[in-house]
Amino acid sequence: MLPLGDLLARAAEPREMLASVVAAAVESLGADGAAVIQVLSSSEGRVVAARSLPSALEEWRGEVDAFDAELGETLLARADGHFDEVCVLPLVSSGDLFGALVLFFRRPNAPTPERLRQCEDVAKLLAMSVGKAYQLEELRSAYEQLRTAREKLERGEKLHALGEMAAGVAHDLKNILNPLSLQLQLMRRLLRREPVGSPALDCVEEMEQVVRRGIDTVERLRAFSRQSPESRVEAVDMNDLVTEALALARPRCGERVELVVDLRAAPRVELEPSEFVAALVNIIVNAIEAIGEHHGTVRVTTGEEGRRAFVRIADDGPGMPPEVQGHVFEPFFTTKGRSGTGLGLAIAFAFAQRHGGEIALVTAVGQGATFTLAFPAVEVEKPPSTRAAPRSHRRGAR
Ligand SMILES: Nc1ncnc2c1ncn2[C@@H]1O[C@H](COP(=O)(O)OP(=O)(O)OP(=O)(O)O)[C@@H](O)[C@H]1O
Ligand SMILES: [Mg+2]
Repeated sequence: MLPLGDLLARAAEPREMLASVVAAAVESLGADGAAVIQVLSSSEGRVVAARSLPSALEEWRGEVDAFDAELGETLLARADGHFDEVCVLPLVSSGDLFGALVLFFRRPNAPTPERLRQCEDVAKLLAMSVGKAYQLEELRSAYEQLRTAREKLERGEKLHALGEMAAGVAHDLKNILNPLSLQLQLMRRLLRREPVGSPALDCVEEMEQVVRRGIDTVERLRAFSRQSPESRVEAVDMNDLVTEALALARPRCGERVELVVDLRAAPRVELEPSEFVAALVNIIVNAIEAIGEHHGTVRVTTGEEGRRAFVRIADDGPGMPPEVQGHVFEPFFTTKGRSGTGLGLAIAFAFAQRHGGEIALVTAVGQGATFTLAFPAVEVEKPPSTRAAPRSHRRGAR
């Protein structure tokens, strides 16, 4: 067996260290049983590592006034006659008490003062090492948080810059497309006076359709660039909007895709309703398109999680490899060639950010994809404002 100092130095996780120490207490220091009790709150503790203890002690959790002889007596009483003596060694690191090493002995094996001193040294070493390991863990998690925050910020800045560019492009395009659309309408009217079946009429109707699609795309660009003038935030019932989105997306399911809906009570949230519906339609349609020619299921679930309302869209399609997953929220990223603009999820992402919400994706190849949108509950319930009716949803949200 390695010396305890080496064991502690090798164990990276606090849990591993604690397990090594209770093992060493029994195997090297001659205790008949050992436990580490961790402080849970100012008056509660629990066993986090145990060796050679009866099960009632292994799972012990209870009130702790102080990590002293009284705690030892409480634990001894739980041992059901297994042990006769107990020794409680508080674990203190950098002035913080975070638990105690508790050693149990049977009578003929009662510890000598020399052995007790050794045990105290072990407790000090343990306290120091575990304290450092906890600090390291805190540092690791702080670094992780920092990295995520930086990535979020970078993504946000990129979106902002693209948004401004998109606003300019959308503005100019709209100025071109609107008059073109009016001219085409005029032309169609003139051609209708011609003999029935004029080939020019078909041509104009086709051109009108193309222009309409162009205007649709411009609308999506405008939404993405946050310049959408009709953007109005309201306190809404998420389930109402999910129902609207389902009605718009359902015709796309055809025979192959089953839409399973489970709407549960969710708190009201503050959103721009038509943009939310458009984002949902895009995500549901993405799921249907991902299933493609196969048969599959798209599950739409709503509910409450930690004072947030969520909607989850999960499909059992092909899922995404990491190189696709890492880019799906980027504007203009698409794997659909000319039939996709790659704006759907970027718009949904920007929308969630603008409303203090989050959008998360869990996926793996062959395991489908699950998108979850979550928004904070409205704290002070506002009277429902009158909605503009009828609302125009960006049906172009393919
Ligand atoms: N449920 C899904 N399963 C598999 N891949 C998906 C899923 N949802 C999105 N994707 C991937 O993410 C890409 C980006 O989606 P996004 O909605 O932003 O754009 P798009 O659907 O390609 O085009 P559009 O702008 O018309 O929506 C898709 O091209 C596809 O590769
Ligand atoms: Mg899409």
